[in-house]
Amino acid sequence: MPLNRRDLLRGAAAAGALGVAWPLSGGLTLAQAEEAAFALGASWDEAPFTVGVASGDPLPESVVLWTRLAPQPLAEEQPLPDTVEVEWVVATDSAFRRRVAHGTAPATAALGHSVHIAVTGLEPARRYYYRFRALGRTSRTGRTRTAPDGHVRRVRFASANCQAFHDGFYAAHRGIAQEDLDFVVHLGDYIYEHGQVGGDHVRDHEGPAVTTLPAYRRRHALYKSDPSLRAAHAAHPWFITWDDHEVVNDYSGTTPGLRARRDAGYQSWFEHMPVRPDHPTTPQVYRQRSWGDLLDLSILDLRQYRSAQNLPGGTILGGTQKAWLKDRISHAGDAWHCWVNSIMLSQLAKPGGGYYFTDQWDGFLAERREVLTHVHDTGMPDLVVITGDWHSAFVDDIRPDFDNPDAPVIGTEFTAHSISSGAYSPEWNAANGPVMGGANPHLKYFEGNRYGYDVYEVTPRRWSTHMRVIGDRRDPNSPVSTLTTFHVDRGKAGSHEDRGTRTSPAQYRRDR
Ligand SMILES: [Fe+2]
Repeated sequence: MPLNRRDLLRGAAAAGALGVAWPLSGGLTLAQAEEAAFALGASWDEAPFTVGVASGDPLPESVVLWTRLAPQPLAEEQPLPDTVEVEWVVATDSAFRRRVAHGTAPATAALGHSVHIAVTGLEPARRYYYRFRALGRTSRTGRTRTAPDGHVRRVRFASANCQAFHDGFYAAHRGIAQEDLDFVVHLGDYIYEHGQVGGDHVRDHEGPAVTTLPAYRRRHALYKSDPSLRAAHAAHPWFITWDDHEVVNDYSGTTPGLRARRDAGYQSWFEHMPVRPDHPTTPQVYRQRSWGDLLDLSILDLRQYRSAQNLPGGTILGGTQKAWLKDRISHAGDAWHCWVNSIMLSQLAKPGGGYYFTDQWDGFLAERREVLTHVHDTGMPDLVVITGDWHSAFVDDIRPDFDNPDAPVIGTEFTAHSISSGAYSPEWNAANGPVMGGANPHLKYFEGNRYGYDVYEVTPRRWSTHMRVIGDRRDPNSPVSTLTTFHVDRGKAGSHEDRGTRTSPAQYRRDR
């Protein structure tokens, strides 16, 4: 019977092979950390490009190329000179006969020997191949794509979120790597900072163990030891935002006393992500991107600037980002408007009053109403919000006032399954799906027993969300299938489940 990584770890600990419950935290020797990682199925690319290659943030003429030199990926200090020159090359063919750009960049110890190349002068809507060379070695080849400009008839992209390494293998990323996609969006919880393995529920938290820059680096390198994650990065460019576990559970970036830990989490995140190299230690995560005239992306940062939850004047966006988002709403053109949103926007009220979780937008009621009322008042059409965090799939109608079921529908939120992070039990889901549906008339669909990712297929007339699920997160080669598909028609707010998949398993459906 296949085991997930947590079971493997427990088995090894019981057999006396490992002395501690979650041996990838700080305080271990390199040999101990490697022993634990290999027990969990870790493998890396050939040194020094152990953690792979990636590309991201495509613009019509530019894309970011990333790698990190880490000959000993779990070591706190890499056995490298302070600065290593890294050559990079971009070609239009995978054999690198037609080279269109190349250069060198310094990988420095100060930034974990990572490199971020913002390549410019590329052609729009074009596939490219890239690779790196350093210390006499060549990296694997990555494949990427620039954004189109002008008229676009179709875009196909995927979202991933919540990939707790100890909860399962990344069969879902293997699926993403094999999909025909223009790009991938990551919605956060790329790593988990957890110190120890705990219970089986979504929101269990054990001691905070990863707090320093070397420890966060080790954690990121561990996550990249899953070959399916590296394959998904090498296959497509990614747009990336973050959620809380890149630093610590349910944190606010403005929490006093968290500064040093936050800085360490942010810097190590930058060092491992294909993001623009403009702000390495305090990354600028929120931004606007587009895919021609078809898709307008507002990538949100719901962590760095937020206040505490449940305050009368609380903010999840922070003043500057809120003004930016409202300005984008005011000047929205004719396109699908997609908010890349790490945590649930729609209300999720409990039957007797109150909310399930106020770390999500439910803890920032006045600001949510202000932003959504602005969407309504400006008449911005065709809003689709894509969300992670919950480890279960939801489809919601978005209303400016969720307490008023007669308020107009102004958009749709698709909350995706997690890649691997543990969801609630099937028993909890079966009992609570109908309860959540009953207490939230805007909630259309809930499915919490599966893991996977969403694929969005968007044309000028229709947005389709395909929920891709894996059979078993304990199996790295688990096959991918489509659980169901919902669509939104252009100019008509509200989603509909495709006829062919309406009888698929789910714990709640509003419309039958
Ligand atoms: Fe998560």
